[in-house]
Amino acid sequence: MTDAAYQQCINPACNASFSCQESFFKCPKCGDLLDIRYNWDKIAVPKKMSDFAKRWTTRNIPLDYSGVWRFRELLNFCDDKHKVTIGEGQTLLQQNCGLANHLGMKAENLFLQYEGLNPSGSFKDNGMTAAFSHARMIGAKSSACASTGNTSAAVALYAAMCGLKCVVFIGSGRIAFGKLSQAMDYGATTIQIAGDFDDCMRQVQDVCTQMGLYLLNSLNPFRLEGQKTIMFRIIEALNFEVPDWIVVPGGNLGNSSAFGKAFAELKELGLINKTPRLAIINAAGANTLDYLVNTKKLTWNNGNVDMQVVNDLYNDFTAKKFSPHTCASAIEISRPVNLKKCLRALETCNGIVRSVDDDKIKDAKALVGKFGFGCEPASAASVAGLKLLLDEKIISPSDRVACILTGHALKDPNVTVNYHKEKQGPYANPPIEVANDLSKIVQIISA
Ligand code: F0G
Repeated sequence: MTDAAYQQCINPACNASFSCQESFFKCPKCGDLLDIRYNWDKIAVPKKMSDFAKRWTTRNIPLDYSGVWRFRELLNFCDDKHKVTIGEGQTLLQQNCGLANHLGMKAENLFLQYEGLNPSGSFKDNGMTAAFSHARMIGAKSSACASTGNTSAAVALYAAMCGLKCVVFIGSGRIAFGKLSQAMDYGATTIQIAGDFDDCMRQVQDVCTQMGLYLLNSLNPFRLEGQKTIMFRIIEALNFEVPDWIVVPGGNLGNSSAFGKAFAELKELGLINKTPRLAIINAAGANTLDYLVNTKKLTWNNGNVDMQVVNDLYNDFTAKKFSPHTCASAIEISRPVNLKKCLRALETCNGIVRSVDDDKIKDAKALVGKFGFGCEPASAASVAGLKLLLDEKIISPSDRVACILTGHALKDPNVTVNYHKEKQGPYANPPIEVANDLSKIVQIISA
């Protein structure tokens, strides 16, 4: 229970720890990121991953039904009475032989993790169920976030379910319509800033500090605890085996940070005997991580990250008035707040970073639609990244790979419709214009 968990600064020179009854989004002593840590000896953690799956038989209990709280001992920071669940995490790991064949992989080795099947249509709900449970635990009344769209949709939904006020900050013209429609529909106060996501992220932190709002961006360490469960569900779906690779799009780098923490903890607890490799895929128009890791050779370095390199890059962005641009609007981010934790995850999982351009993202998205259930553009960066890593022979056709499809296909119909109608790539499938005439319609269909 609560005394089994605490918050700890990730900066080894600080290392300060705090109770989970408090709410910060940065270490109050040094301003670095915070982790949730556990005294595992005070928690009755099941001995095997398969023990969690037994809760499938008690699906009438809401916490057992939740694909997040089914693993509750592994995110044990909150009493059951404060937990909020709306059935998040009922997501699917699809073995996709058609796409595997197309990419030249062994047919049975490619898996797509459909996080778009969550209540608000993206992986964010995994994190929100955890963070809103913490918000309830500490008695928060109002919530806020900056967003490229999906966070705002998920925060607005959970805030409405929990009866919290909600303010979301979005960059004007920067978010897909499906996501904007959700925030408005769920009743959030939607603030459109004349700027990009990074501008919104700066503003929301100041507003939260000044007005005491509960922040739900992935700076919030409780949110990342929920996102760990995406990895637990993949292991469960693979009959308790760990894949060779996890491929994930990288934006603000919350997911990749959470995944690294998940595997570090499972290893520490003896619940897995191997760690997968992590491939993080940036959009070429928002490739801060790729640049810092591959060009500047930035590493975790036992927590002593060379921030001079990072600050030089960000100062350069400011001087050039650089703003990121990609059709994958969800990952249109140039100053990822979880950079340090992500570097740690890259080390834990012997990770690798790549960038893919918008044409490759759109083609990959069309392929996920053609062979699977579809996904939004940012999600398809994972499949485009997989293709690149197969071409580079870093991922082998016989490796078992899970690509995380982070958001639902209907989040951003504009990119999809434009791709097909304007024949933007080889998988375009445009509608055919035909007169309102039976014989002409039959002629076209039989052609
Ligand atoms: N995919 C989708 C569909 C997203 O919405 C996001 C992030 C990412 C990938 C990147 O994940 O930040 O954990 O690296 N969307 C945030 C938002 C930033 O505001 O909705 P990350």
